[in-house]
Amino acid sequence: MEILAHWFGPLHPPMTHFPIVCSILAVLAFGAGLWKKADWLLKSALTLWVLTFLSAVASVFLGHLFAHDLGMTADWALVPPPEILKGQLRFHAILGSLAALLSLLTLTGAWRSAKGKAWPTALQLVWGLAVAVLLGFTGHEGGEMVYGPQDETPSPASAPAAASVAGEDLLSLVADYRQNLAKVNAKTWNSRTHGHRWVNTYVSKESVDAYKNSNPLPEGALVVKESFQDAGGQASQVPGPLYVMRKGKASDSPETGGWKYALRWDKPVAGNPEGIQGPVTWLPGDGNLDSCMRCHSHFKENDYMGGVPSDAMNP
Ligand code: HEC
Repeated sequence: MEILAHWFGPLHPPMTHFPIVCSILAVLAFGAGLWKKADWLLKSALTLWVLTFLSAVASVFLGHLFAHDLGMTADWALVPPPEILKGQLRFHAILGSLAALLSLLTLTGAWRSAKGKAWPTALQLVWGLAVAVLLGFTGHEGGEMVYGPQDETPSPASAPAAASVAGEDLLSLVADYRQNLAKVNAKTWNSRTHGHRWVNTYVSKESVDAYKNSNPLPEGALVVKESFQDAGGQASQVPGPLYVMRKGKASDSPETGGWKYALRWDKPVAGNPEGIQGPVTWLPGDGNLDSCMRCHSHFKENDYMGGVPSDAMNP
C-alpha cells in the first residue's frame, strides 16, 4: 500500500482536474443540447457524467494515497482526524467524498436516460450543476491547502535573530542542538517520510508553544530532526541524517515561507534509500533539498511543519 501511495498518490492533483472539467462540460453540453435540440450534445453530456463519476472516485482514492505519501495521515480512515492541518484535510476529504457521492446521482441519471427512463431535464440539470459546483469548490479548497489563501497572513514580528545567515552558518547554528533547543516529542517515533528512520524533533525554545499549537513560528526559529537507523523495528544507535530547517525572512524566500532546509550525514550507511554514498552536507540551494521543500509545502497551513504524531508528543 505504501508503494502504491508513493507511485500513485502524487497523481491526485492532476487527476482532480478531470472530474471538475468533465462535470462542467457535461452541464454545458446538456444545456446546449436542450436548447439546440441536438441529440449528440445530450449524448455527450451523458458520457461526460459517466467520466465525471469514474474520475471523481479515482480522485478520492488517489487523495487518500497522496495524504499518506506526504506523511499527513498514518491510518486509512475515510474521514481524516480533525487535527491534521487544523481540520483542513478533513474538510477537503468530506467535500471530495460528497462530490463523488453526488456524482453517483448524475451517473444514475445518465444511465436512466440511456435506458429511455430519463429523469426530468430540470432535475438532471440541477444535479449536474450541483456536482460541478461541489467538485469545483473541493478543488479550489484543495489548492488553497497547498498554495494558501490569497490574502497572506503576516508572520509574527521579526526578531533580530532573523537576519539571513549563510548556508554554512545554518549548520553551525544547530551544532549543539541537544543543549540549545528543546525536544518536543516524548518518545522516538519512526518517520516514514524521512527514510523510515527513528526520529526526535528539537525546536528553538521560544518557538515551542507555536510549534505545539501549529501556529506560525517566529522568524529565526530553528527546527532539527535527528534520526537513527532502524534495526529490526527498533531505533538503533547508528545515526541517520540530521534534518534542519530555519525560518528566515519570508520575503527572502517567499516560495518556502522563509524556510531554509539543510541536511547533514557524516557516516551514511550502505544501501540507504537516498543513495547517498559518502559524507554529505546539503546546504540551502542544493538541488537535493528540493524534495524536502516540495513535500513540506503541503503543510503550509501549519507554517510548513509536519509536526509530531499525537502519540509521541511531549505534552
Ligand atoms: C514526503 C514528505 C516529506 C519529505 C520528502 C521531507 N519531509 Fe520533513 N517532514 C515531513 C513530515 C510529515 C514531518 C512530520 C512527521 C514526521 O517527521 O514523521 C516532517 C518533519 C520534519 C522536520 C521537523 C519539523 C516538522 O516539520 O515538524 C524537519 C526539520 C524536516 N522534516 C526536515 C526535512 C528535510 C531537511 C527534508 C529533506 C532532506 C525533509 N524534511 C523531507 C514530511 C517530509
